[in-house]
Amino acid sequence: MVGLLDFQGFEEINTPAAQPSNCIFMTIIDGKQLSEQIKNELAEEVKTIVQNGGKIPHLAAVLVGENPASKVYVRNKVRSCEQVGFKSTLVEKSADITEAELLQVVHNLNNDPDIDGFIVQLPLPNHINEEKVTLAIDPKKDVDGFHPVNFGRMALGMPCYLPATPFGIVTMLERYNIPTAGKHAVVIGRSNIVGTPMAILLSRKGKVGDCTVTVTHSRTHDLPGIVRQADIIVAAIGRANFVTADMVKPGAVVIDVGINRVEAPETKRGYRLVGDVDYDGVAEKCSFITPVPGGVGPMTVLSLLQNTLKASQKAIYGD
Ligand code: GUN
Repeated sequence: MVGLLDFQGFEEINTPAAQPSNCIFMTIIDGKQLSEQIKNELAEEVKTIVQNGGKIPHLAAVLVGENPASKVYVRNKVRSCEQVGFKSTLVEKSADITEAELLQVVHNLNNDPDIDGFIVQLPLPNHINEEKVTLAIDPKKDVDGFHPVNFGRMALGMPCYLPATPFGIVTMLERYNIPTAGKHAVVIGRSNIVGTPMAILLSRKGKVGDCTVTVTHSRTHDLPGIVRQADIIVAAIGRANFVTADMVKPGAVVIDVGINRVEAPETKRGYRLVGDVDYDGVAEKCSFITPVPGGVGPMTVLSLLQNTLKASQKAIYGD
C-alpha cells in the first residue's frame, strides 16, 4: 500500500506485492526526503557561489516572546540555513517589546546590506499589530511572501516571493509529476498564508496550475459533498483528522497542511502530532498522500531557503 520514490531518478519502486488487491496504488509524498534532496542542491549552489567569490545568502529571523511552537519553527529555519551553508541571524525579543521598538527592528533589517531576507515569526503578542509589522517589511526582503506587494504580484503571475507553504506544495506536485491541468482542486481553509494563496496558485496558468479550484471554509454548506468531488484536496483547516475516508474520491491526491496536537498519554511528550486528514483511513483510498509529520512541514522550511537564495541573487526585484 505504501509507495516510495527513488529520488535519484524519481522512479517508482513500489512493489506490487505490497498492495492489497482491492487497493488503489498509493504513493506517499515524502516531504522530508524531497526537502533534503533539494537542500543538497542548494548546498551545491552555495559552494559554487563561494568558489566564485559571491555573497553568501543571509537570512534573519525575528522571534518575539516564548511561544513554544514559534521557537521550534524558528530553530528549524536557523538550523536549515546552517545545513545549506547560508548565514543566519536570530533576533530574539521579549514579549513586552513595544510595537514601535519592533518596527525599529524591522527598519534596521530593511537597511542592513548584509541581510538578504528576513521574517518576523507569527503570531505576535496581542498588543502588536501584525499587519503594521508586515507592511513595514521591505517587499524586496520579504522572503515569507506575506507583504501585499508580493501577494499581489503572486496573484498577477509576476515574479515574487511565494508564501512558503503553498510554494512547498507546488514543489511537491511538480517533483512527483502529479498532473494538475483541468483537475478539480478543493482547498479546505482560506487563511492568508495557506488556503487563499494556494487557491490562487492552483488556478493560475502554469506547470503546476490550470486547476478548477473551490475554496471551502467553516461556513461552507455540504463541505463533505464538495470535497468528495475533488481530484486534489489541500486540507488547511487546523482541525485534527477532519478529512475522513468517506469525503475522499477514490484516487484523489491528498495534501495535508495541518499540524495538530492530540493527547497521547502513552507517549513521553503526552501528545502526538496529527494532520487535518485521517491518515490511515484516507491512505486506503487516495493515489498520493502527504504524511504528518514529514510531509508539507519540511517543504515549508525549504521554500524559505529558496526565497532567500533568490533574494541574495536579486532574482525578483533586481538591484
Ligand atoms: N507562523 C506560522 N507559519 C509562519 C510562516 O511561514 N512565517 C512566519 N513569519 N510566521 C509563521
